[in-house]
Amino acid sequence: AYLQKQDDYELMANISRFYQQQLKVATDKDVAINYLKGRGLSGEICKRFGIGYISDSWDGVMKNFGGTASTNQQLIDLGMAIEGDKNRPYDRFRGRIMFPISDKRGRVIGFGGRVINDGTPKYLNSPETRIYHKGQELYGLYEAKQANKNLQRLVVVEGYMDVVALAQHGVDYAVASLGTATTPEQLQTLFRTVKEVICCYDGDRAGREAAWRAMDNALPLIQDGYSLKFVFLPDGEDPDSLIRQKGQQAFEQIIDEATPLSQFIFDHLLAQVNLQTAEGKGALIESFQPYLTKLPASTLKDSILTQLANHFGHSNEQQLAKLTKSFANQSATKPK
Ligand code: GTP
Ligand code: MN
Ligand code: MN
Ligand code: MN
Ligand code: MN
Repeated sequence: AYLQKQDDYELMANISRFYQQQLKVATDKDVAINYLKGRGLSGEICKRFGIGYISDSWDGVMKNFGGTASTNQQLIDLGMAIEGDKNRPYDRFRGRIMFPISDKRGRVIGFGGRVINDGTPKYLNSPETRIYHKGQELYGLYEAKQANKNLQRLVVVEGYMDVVALAQHGVDYAVASLGTATTPEQLQTLFRTVKEVICCYDGDRAGREAAWRAMDNALPLIQDGYSLKFVFLPDGEDPDSLIRQKGQQAFEQIIDEATPLSQFIFDHLLAQVNLQTAEGKGALIESFQPYLTKLPASTLKDSILTQLANHFGHSNEQQLAKLTKSFANQSATKPK
């Protein structure tokens, strides 16, 4: 047992090293190694992402890092242990492949743990703690920056496995928003890091809905020179399954041909109205309102307005002027 209390970050780093070491020494390490191999991951890529393993036991971490009232409490505070009866905390993560989550400086702040094969929950994540704030972190961002001195674009995916599988196949610029929809804070971080962000969520209903929400959250950030694009994968596929089938080149071609934000909005909103009728035309303008008002004044906004006006008769200058006025970015006139 550790007698002296360590700094939170130091402790998390040591636990991460412990999990990685377990992948080499645990009595049932073969189960974990075979699982990772079965998912197409090499030892080298597992090392790059610090992937580890913890056998199914109540005290793997407790035994090595707890033992005193203060170290036990720290493990509970950091989400690594759960307060049990009679002051007997036990390990939160048991029998799982462990993915360390790093902050942008590379410090381990939390973990995601996947069951091997089937079981529930499939993924168990660190709770919110004093050093881990879910909606603000992006899994893989530190690793992407390490791998690319000059990051130009980032691909946003849903899960740990997507990030790691993409890196395994040479796409080393993916990050995951981790379960939740991509939050405004995460989008801010993304656009502070690169000018081009491509959302590539799972090819299912949840993935398509997540894309629309990400678009909505990103609108205030899209200034000239910045772009948000979307890849819609075939039903049932995710970036991991797709790159394993098709390889790096095909995947990057899909990324290169991603749908721009403006087209995504038009496709989606046009599909909901009938432009043959006056009511439909009114409904279309109405439906654009909440999105366009969030977009700051930019070339992109102008071109969306022009496109929209074109749906009501060509080069309708009056119509365009009216739209421009009614869709002015309201936040621009308010002090921030
Ligand atoms: P694999 O089955 O390992 O390929 O995982 P996946 O990433 O494809 O899983 P899925 O598409 O179902 O989920 C995407 C992400 O949502 C995961 O990477 C997790 O971050 C999160 N997630 C999935 N299942 C659970 C769960 O049971 N509990 C929690 N808290 N998060 C989950
Ligand atoms: Mn904090
Ligand atoms: Mn899914
Ligand atoms: Mn998935
Ligand atoms: Mn998957």
